[in-house]
Amino acid sequence: MSSVRGIVALSAGDATDLGDVNAIMADAFDPRYGEAWTPSQCVGMLALSGIWLTMASVDGQSAGFALARSIMDDGELLLLAVRNDFRRRGVGSALLRSVIREAGARGVTGLHLEVRKGNPAIDLYRREGFRKVGERASYYRGITGQQYDAQTFHRMLTKE
Ligand SMILES: CC(C)(COP(=O)(O)OP(=O)(O)OC[C@H]1O[C@@H](n2cnc3c(N)ncnc32)[C@H](O)[C@@H]1OP(=O)(O)O)[C@@H](O)C(=O)NCCC(=O)NCCS
Repeated sequence: MSSVRGIVALSAGDATDLGDVNAIMADAFDPRYGEAWTPSQCVGMLALSGIWLTMASVDGQSAGFALARSIMDDGELLLLAVRNDFRRRGVGSALLRSVIREAGARGVTGLHLEVRKGNPAIDLYRREGFRKVGERASYYRGITGQQYDAQTFHRMLTKE
């Protein structure tokens, strides 16, 4: 963990942040695993109803983002990414907690996500109360064509 944590600032994002989103995505996701989205997938997703984007910066520098969606009382964390240079300083946790808070404010009662089996992000999800509920075989396809299983996680949200 870095000894200089910096101040993590969160803000609501929109289409003007897509340049930062794509830069963070390119830095954060290892192309071996095929987990990152293309820029056009992000543009398309942002246009859907119920989507919200949260941007994180540290000392004024763009550090990470989260993309989530709510449909009625059902919520999904679609993407969570933090640049390599800003990891293990609490940015991912701050983003995830913000998604949980915002989902609750939108009336979501259960939040789910899927993640590549073996992704270290699972430690973060477990720590924030998500529990594994399923597996999807060969869900991700990496750049070499190799396939990787996904695991699905769920967390109940209590109304405040
Ligand atoms: C997963 C990710 C968002 C975590 O971001 P982060 O800012 O480093 O997370 P935090 O600093 O808030 O970590 C909080 C806790 O989660 C766990 N954790 C986070 N990254 C971890 C890792 N690589 N290995 C093990 N535990 C990890 C630890 O318990 C950590 O607490 P600690 O630092 O006190 O030990 C970041 O590693 C990332 O962008 N990964 C690539 C993209 C990705 O795979 N996203 C998830 C699928 S969409």
